Amino acid sequence: MKVLVLGSGGREHALVWKLRQSPRLTKLYCAPGNGGICQDAECADVDLKSLDSMVALANRLQPDLTIVGPELPLTVGVVDEFTRRGWRIFGPTQAAAQLESSKSFAKQFMQRHHIPTAHYAICVSVDEVREALPHFHAPIVVKADGLAAGKGVVIAKTKEEAALFAAEMLSGKMLGEAGQRIVLEEFLDGEELSFLLISDGERVAPLVAAQDHKRVGDGDTGPNTGGMGAYSIASLVDAPMRDWLVTHIAKPVVAGMREEGMQYRGILYCGLMMTARGPMVLEFNCRFGDPETQPILMRLESDLIDAMEASIDGRVSDGDFKWSSDASVCVVLASGGYPGTYDSGVEILGLEGAAKITGVKVFHAGTTHRDGGFYTAGGRVLGVTARGADLPAALSRAYEAVAKIGFEGMHYRKDIGARSLKK
Ligand code: AMP
Ligand code: GLY
Repeated sequence: MKVLVLGSGGREHALVWKLRQSPRLTKLYCAPGNGGICQDAECADVDLKSLDSMVALANRLQPDLTIVGPELPLTVGVVDEFTRRGWRIFGPTQAAAQLESSKSFAKQFMQRHHIPTAHYAICVSVDEVREALPHFHAPIVVKADGLAAGKGVVIAKTKEEAALFAAEMLSGKMLGEAGQRIVLEEFLDGEELSFLLISDGERVAPLVAAQDHKRVGDGDTGPNTGGMGAYSIASLVDAPMRDWLVTHIAKPVVAGMREEGMQYRGILYCGLMMTARGPMVLEFNCRFGDPETQPILMRLESDLIDAMEASIDGRVSDGDFKWSSDASVCVVLASGGYPGTYDSGVEILGLEGAAKITGVKVFHAGTTHRDGGFYTAGGRVLGVTARGADLPAALSRAYEAVAKIGFEGMHYRKDIGARSLKK
């Protein structure tokens, strides 16, 4: 089977790595890919914002299956367009992807279907914000409605601060169109959890859970990022909690979307806060998480192509995935300055030494390959991923590999998984 992966990050490198293990694979393409992905798959240029560009590429490569990594192609309707042409593609339609592309849609949907989430108000003007604020207690979370690559959420310590952030977002200066509608939200306290599942529009099969580390600095300090590392261990979610999440969140979302005429096929990523009142949904993503996918796929023992075809063909079953009981972790190595401005084109050293460590795979995110060397080409550069019999074993391998790698300005978190280690 010929498979095409769309995307260019660490998540897509992990997908490519896992797909290569499938006995069903005959040819693997990735577009546009990155320096590391191009060692493992044939890369091609594509503009992920443009349906024409993606259609032209698929016409040329004739894949039997296309897998969409990031949200952008989903929100421009690549699944709708490919399906209309009779091409097999894994992911939700443009309408179903609104669960990620519009936070106000997601909040109203959750309210309609009694899915646990924080209290909220949707505002399109400063006047509406002024009217809504008395109904909240500080701190207050202010969110841009549209896609903002992790930069659309601020936590305001006071109502005055919330009003300022809201006004700035609404003005369009901060985030453009994405912020012209905002969601005010009650602040939830607890531990975050990434709970992903695969659906065929009717049935669901959960993946193993993972925990992301969104803040740039150790001890969850500094600004939010796309994710500085993640880990997955069996004890993050026990069997009763898994059943609860499937019954009260996963199934109602998929049933609600079907009822509303938007069959949800593909990966549904539920970003949860585990509060004292129980799990609550912070956000949905309509795709695999990055970097959660790197440790999650390291634990997957069954075939990924089979699972994706089950989603397309309407035969997902809870037993579709076989998982290792091992722990896995991913430590993201970022460019100096990230999540602010950073330089690109910096040479990366030590990749060969890191690759020799047992149980380690270095996934590339923002890299390019030229003249036999690898260079930085993004904020998140590499995802050093390792598995081990338990979390300390996986962490020790990952950080041993990190110590071999270097590039000017490189920084990373030294406390990935620390919260679970303490327990
Ligand atoms: P989101 O894009 O909605 O997932 O928000 C990004 C990050 O902001 C989340 O991963 C949380 O760390 C934080 N966050 C979002 N909503 C809330 C909330 N209601 N209470 C506390 N933290 C939140
Ligand atoms: N790691 C968070 C995300 O993929 O959105």
